[in-house]
Amino acid sequence: MFFILKVLFGFGKTSVAATCVIGLQWGDEAKGKLVDLLAPRHDIVVRYQGGANAGHTVVCGKEVYKLHHVPSGILAGGITNVIAPGVVIEPNMLIRELEGLEARGITPRKNLMISERAHVVMPWHFVEDKATNKAMVAGESIGTTNRGIGPCYRDKVGRTHAIRIADLSSDQLKIKITETAAAKRHMLAPIADPSDLELLDTDKVLQQCHMWANSLGSLAADSTNYLLDELDAGKRLLMEGAQGSLLDIDHGTYPFVTSSNASGVGVSAGSGVPARWITNVIGVTKAYSTRVGGGPFPTELIDETGQKIREIGREYGTTTGRPRRCGWFDAVAVRYTARLSGIHYLSLMMMDVLSYFDTVQICVAYELRGERISRFPCLAEDLRLCKPIYETLPGWNTDVSNVRKLEDFPTNARRYIDRISELISVPIGVLSVGPDREQTIFLASF
Ligand code: GDP
Ligand code: IMO
Ligand code: MG
Repeated sequence: MFFILKVLFGFGKTSVAATCVIGLQWGDEAKGKLVDLLAPRHDIVVRYQGGANAGHTVVCGKEVYKLHHVPSGILAGGITNVIAPGVVIEPNMLIRELEGLEARGITPRKNLMISERAHVVMPWHFVEDKATNKAMVAGESIGTTNRGIGPCYRDKVGRTHAIRIADLSSDQLKIKITETAAAKRHMLAPIADPSDLELLDTDKVLQQCHMWANSLGSLAADSTNYLLDELDAGKRLLMEGAQGSLLDIDHGTYPFVTSSNASGVGVSAGSGVPARWITNVIGVTKAYSTRVGGGPFPTELIDETGQKIREIGREYGTTTGRPRRCGWFDAVAVRYTARLSGIHYLSLMMMDVLSYFDTVQICVAYELRGERISRFPCLAEDLRLCKPIYETLPGWNTDVSNVRKLEDFPTNARRYIDRISELISVPIGVLSVGPDREQTIFLASF
């Protein structure tokens, strides 16, 4: 009887449970900015996939924070921030990140939980990433962030040579590290720099593991049950995606992707939060497109216009400093990822960057081998052949960075915003006109 009543009356609780912030392009859509803004309206912020390949920027007045592992809710104060099982953690970088925040007067350790199930990016993963990053796939290199991400996820799936956060404090650690380090030295010897192999000395690695356990052990916990308990108690979760849907391992521009499910489909797997709790999905997109690293990019502008976007938008990687490739907004790609990620609202960022153009273009379809297509193709080699079919709209030639109300945008900017929403078939929930918190217009309540 009690159970039936709980089921009957419990349904109401799911009305506001988990809001997800998902990148709809190739990453760097300004997810960090949005998560920081939405965090105070939630109880817990959760990073659930990716690792230190992510670089999420939060600008608070003069202070600029670049977060790699730590969820972007850490600056909101008083909110619990969780690094869930689907994230791969590089402890040295995480410790440095925590120390960096502490040096700026933030106390991240007070409200940070790390899943004991999360996998550890080990020294051999860096050696392997470096040794294989030069490899050509379909005539081009992936151009990873060199953070050991692919090799760590490869070992996670392979299971025989994986180390998790819980292992760092286990009495089996010495056996695991001894076996794994020996196997890795053997496997990597033919491809790695000899000096890099020295980093894989068993005693050195073990020493590091003990240091990591000392520093991070008190933060490690069973985040899966914690989140489920908190949801049962009616708490609101904010799920922070890393990378972007076009970099999703299963649904992105494979093989030019990252090694995790970076689209909306990855939320449940990475966090342990079942789909029934996910009530709101916000897709973040720039008003144009960027990509870092290799891979096809149909609307890329290798000309002065691309350079203008890069300079105005300061499009240089947060993690690696590499110049980002820039191009016009690709509605074919974003329509695909908005559907894939189950988006309820679009968060359209960087409208200010397009302030000074006489005309702006939106790719509405591709031409592939003489045929017009509007579906995003599966093969990277097909996407590489796709020629964008553009719709040209008049620019607004006005600085919009001080606009704070939808009505105050110039007519041509309004037309551009409306057209994007129409092409993606999703309402706009947020508009961003600059990196600062105040440079944001909310059109929906979250
Ligand atoms: P993330 O990885 O998705 O969190 O995005 P990044 O932090 O890597 O890159 C987004 C960059 O754009 C950061 O430098 C932000 O400070 C900046 N930014 C965010 N929103 C806006 C905006 O509306 N206009 C401009 N010009 N910059 C923005
Ligand atoms: P955020 O969270 C942009 C790209 C890399 C490379 C490919 C694979 O800041 O949006 P990896 O190191 O993951 O094996 O690299 O994915 N990439 C990103 N590009 N933003 C990111 O994260 C990225 N994380 C990985 O440039 O092309
Ligand atoms: Mg980034």
